[in-house]
Amino acid sequence: MRPTGEADRLSLARAMAAAAQEMDAALDVLLPPAEGPEARLYAAMRYAAIGGGKRLRGFLVLEGARQFSASRAAALRVAAAVEMVHAYSLVHDDLPAMDDDDLRRGKPTVHRAFDEATAILAGDALQAHAFTVLAEEDTHSDPAVRAELVRCLSRAAGPRGMCGGQMLDMLAEEAESPLDEIAIGRLQTMKTGKLIEFSAEAGAILGKAPAPLRHALCCYGRDLGAAFQIADDLLDATATEAETGKRTGKDAGAGKATLVGLLGLDRARLQAERLVAQAKDHLDGLGERAGLLRALADFVIERRS
Ligand code: IPE
Ligand code: IPE
Ligand code: MG
Ligand code: MG
Ligand code: MG
Repeated sequence: MRPTGEADRLSLARAMAAAAQEMDAALDVLLPPAEGPEARLYAAMRYAAIGGGKRLRGFLVLEGARQFSASRAAALRVAAAVEMVHAYSLVHDDLPAMDDDDLRRGKPTVHRAFDEATAILAGDALQAHAFTVLAEEDTHSDPAVRAELVRCLSRAAGPRGMCGGQMLDMLAEEAESPLDEIAIGRLQTMKTGKLIEFSAEAGAILGKAPAPLRHALCCYGRDLGAAFQIADDLLDATATEAETGKRTGKDAGAGKATLVGLLGLDRARLQAERLVAQAKDHLDGLGERAGLLRALADFVIERRS
């Protein structure tokens, strides 16, 4: 396949911006403002989930679904559900008991804008609501497809996925000896990789793709997710808060286990580049239609936010 050029970058930027708008519209409908005493909870959920972020996971769902001509409306529901789980993970990641951050997506974190109890509940509610959305009939007429989406997303978010990885991330801060490359890889696969892998796979589930193509998207998502977290760690060390919309330069002081800390900037970047090349190789069986997914892989390590 030809390498990503300027025209592909531009098409990707346009497609991502348009998809982000569609996702915001879907989230606005799925998370309507509420009246009465629970209005505060809805306001915090909307604050966390709507109008910010790169929407990379949701974009993966939409592009994956497009490969198999799955319904756009259904794909948007799945994209919104993944973004709700992701937003919940960020709200909890920022809490004082975890990374203790006060800035996210260029605005105060949810526990700063509201309060800690509201942030915990908004995260919990976003996660629960994501599964409600997946389980509803509008997501797919075939209950087996809905159940498979629920099964795969809950595994990606649970103890063997994001939550498990976040536990390892917190434990590593206090570890007596630094984690080695294998242990950091495992931590990052769990905390970040699994949700990105699911996002890449979800469109194949929705579109009832042939098993080899579903597998190819999974492998792509796995490598992309690994590269994505290395890039996040590189940005912590090299980008500004104005670029990322969150505090940077914190990981080393907090004792975070990262490949940047273990290998240094250059070797970590090289590792991310290798993973991106590998991710793109997995798409060979999908042909030209997967052009935006290939460009997205390059974007993951070229981005400044
Ligand atoms: C940040 O994710 C958390 C990580 C897993 C590194 P993103 O960089 O995708 O955050 P948003 O959604 O764009 O804000
Ligand atoms: C968080 O990783 C990954 C999650 C599962 C939320 P980080 O703690 O590095 O993410 P940022 O840098 O705060 O976005
Ligand atoms: Mg964290
Ligand atoms: Mg954090
Ligand atoms: Mg980070």
